[in-house]
Amino acid sequence: KASLKEHAANARLLFGFAVDTRQLRENRRYREVVEQQASIIVAENAMKWRALRPAVDRYDFEDADGLLTFAEKNRIKLRGHNLCWHESLPVWFDAVANRGNAHRLLVDHIRTVAGRYAGRMHSWDVVNEAINTRDGRGDGLRNSPWLRLVGTDYIEIAFRTAREADPAALLTYNEFGLEPETVEGAGKRAATLQMLRRLKQRNVPIDAVGIQSHLEAGSRSGYGPELTKFMAACREMGLEIFLSEMDVSDRNLPVNTDSRDAVVAESYRSYLEMTLQERRVTAVLTWGVDDGGTWLTAGEPRRDQSAQRPLLFDSSFQAKPAFAAVREAFVGR
Ligand code: G3I
Repeated sequence: KASLKEHAANARLLFGFAVDTRQLRENRRYREVVEQQASIIVAENAMKWRALRPAVDRYDFEDADGLLTFAEKNRIKLRGHNLCWHESLPVWFDAVANRGNAHRLLVDHIRTVAGRYAGRMHSWDVVNEAINTRDGRGDGLRNSPWLRLVGTDYIEIAFRTAREADPAALLTYNEFGLEPETVEGAGKRAATLQMLRRLKQRNVPIDAVGIQSHLEAGSRSGYGPELTKFMAACREMGLEIFLSEMDVSDRNLPVNTDSRDAVVAESYRSYLEMTLQERRVTAVLTWGVDDGGTWLTAGEPRRDQSAQRPLLFDSSFQAKPAFAAVREAFVGR
C-alpha cells in the first residue's frame, strides 16, 4: 500500500512529522516509519535556542547537524523550528540578556544558525507564537522577552536577518490557537492577520504561515468557516500555508481506547477535508510520530492518568484509524 508521502505528493502536498532526534538515532522502528512515510520533517526540540545554546559563547550543533544529514540522505525536506520564541530559551538567558545586548544576541543567533544551514532548509519558523491577545496590548503582540528587550520591531528584525542568512528557505510565521470557532480564536486570527499585513506593507520578507493545528477531539466549538476565511486572507497576501504541528488531544474523551481512536480519526478527517480545500496549503506535519512520544500526555494530562492517543501511530508503531483518515483526506484532495 502506498505511503502517506506518496498520497500527499499526488495531492501536491508534503507530509511528515516533528521528530525526536534521540528516537531517530536509537529506535529502528521509529526511524523506519519516518523513512517510509515522511517527505518533510522538523525537529521537535533540537533546533530551539535551549538545545543549540548551552552557554552564551558556545553553540552545540551535534543533534541538528545529524538531523539534516539524515534528512538529506533520505531525500526528506527539513523545516527549521525555530529562530525566535519566548519559550525554551537557554537557562542563562535571563541572567545575560538585557536591553543593551538583546538585539545583538538575536541577530547573531539567526546569522549563525540559519547561515550554517543556508540553502539546505525547506523553511524556517523565524518567529514562533508572537501573538497573545490576553496581554492587553492594542496590537495583540505577546509581552515576550524579545518584545521587552528589543522592542516591537524584533519580528521584522528577525525576518530580515533570516532572509540575509538563508535566501532560499521559506520564512514562516508559526502560531497556535488560530483554528477554533471561538471568541478567543477570532481574536487570535484578527491579531495575526493585522501583524502579517503590517509586515507585508513594510516589505518584510515573509513567505508562509504555519497554522499549528493542535486540535481537540470532540470540542464543541469545532473548526469551520472562520479558519477557511483566515487561510484565504493569507493566500491573498501571497503567503503559503503549512499545517505545521497537527495533533488531536483526546483529553476530554472517555477512557475506552477504541472509541477515542475513532473520534480522533474523525477529527483528522474533517479538519483536513476542510483545510485542504485551500490550495495554498502545501504541507501537513503531525507533532510527533507515535503516541508514546506525544508532548500532550504531560502537557495536557487526562484526568484518568492514561496516555493521550493524539497521533497516527500507537506506541508500538501500528497505524491507527487516524492514519487511514489522513490518507483518505489526501486521496480526496
Ligand atoms: O532536556 C530535558 C531532557 O534532558 C530530559 O530528559 C527531559 C525529561 O523530561 O526533559 C528535557 O527537556 C524537555 C524537552 O521537551 C525534551 O523532552 C523540556 O523540559 C520540555 O519543556 C520540552 O518540551 C517541549 C516544548 O515544546 C517546549 O520546548 C516539547 O517537547 C515540544 O513538543 C513542545 O513543542 C511546542 C512547539 O515547539 C511550539 N508549538 C507548541 C508545541 C507543543 O507545546
